[in-house]
Amino acid sequence: MGSTQDKPQLMINGKRLDGRGPADLRSIKIEPNVVKNAAGSAYIEWGKNKIIAAVHGPKEALPKHFADPERAIIKCRYMMAPFSSLEEHGRTGPNRRSIEISKVTKEVFENVVMLELFPNTEIDIFVEVLQGDGGTRAAGITAAAVAMALSGIPMTDIPYAVSAGKIGDTVVLDMDKLEDNYSDADMPVAVKPLDNEILLLQMDGSFTKEQLKQAISMITDAGKAIREVQEKAIRKPYEQIIEKYQK
Ligand code: CDP
Repeated sequence: MGSTQDKPQLMINGKRLDGRGPADLRSIKIEPNVVKNAAGSAYIEWGKNKIIAAVHGPKEALPKHFADPERAIIKCRYMMAPFSSLEEHGRTGPNRRSIEISKVTKEVFENVVMLELFPNTEIDIFVEVLQGDGGTRAAGITAAAVAMALSGIPMTDIPYAVSAGKIGDTVVLDMDKLEDNYSDADMPVAVKPLDNEILLLQMDGSFTKEQLKQAISMITDAGKAIREVQEKAIRKPYEQIIEKYQK
């Protein structure tokens, strides 16, 4: 959230600067299997965000003392490329924010991946932001879910994530970077769509109880559209194989 001084007008006649209404998502496209050496991968364009997610494993957990004889462990590395935004990312390597986002992403997947099927192993999730425009942790989780599904590692459900925020007193879905800079609240949420269980909820700023309800219902409504894009990407490689053999 940015300072309220010099705040640009982010909503004009109920429309946001990019023409969206409060409950509208940016456009989302997902391309499956873009990294040859990964077990599963996906490239997502979510508005101006461009992100690659790749899943490796399950493979022997290293170092060995990290291995859990009962289940697989998940490691996650979220990173923004140095050229991904106007802000400086010149010094490569993890920073406080990337460590936090890696941790919350890992926790989302610990709650859906059937870890007990792969004792003593590790599953690695990589999220690389090539271009960032607000909401990258949500877009990264959404893409990583597709990468995980394509890897064939069983999950109890395919999670998605999106954030809701507040521009003045208006609850809005899926803020871009400019909106995020001047918003009054930002709440990324990851959801398990089968039962709408919340796998991640972070909040910057505050919502009233009513606003929170509205935000959650905007998120779960949008979840249906996000899920469709995810499913289309997961089906694509299989449809291509079927098409090839039908020729
Ligand atoms: O991306 P997300 O909204 O999950 O995380 P954030 O920490 O709330 O950051 C919002 C946006 O600010 C990011 O999506 C980036 O576009 C930008 N950002 C950046 O470019 N460099 C940073 N060090 C932090 C944020």
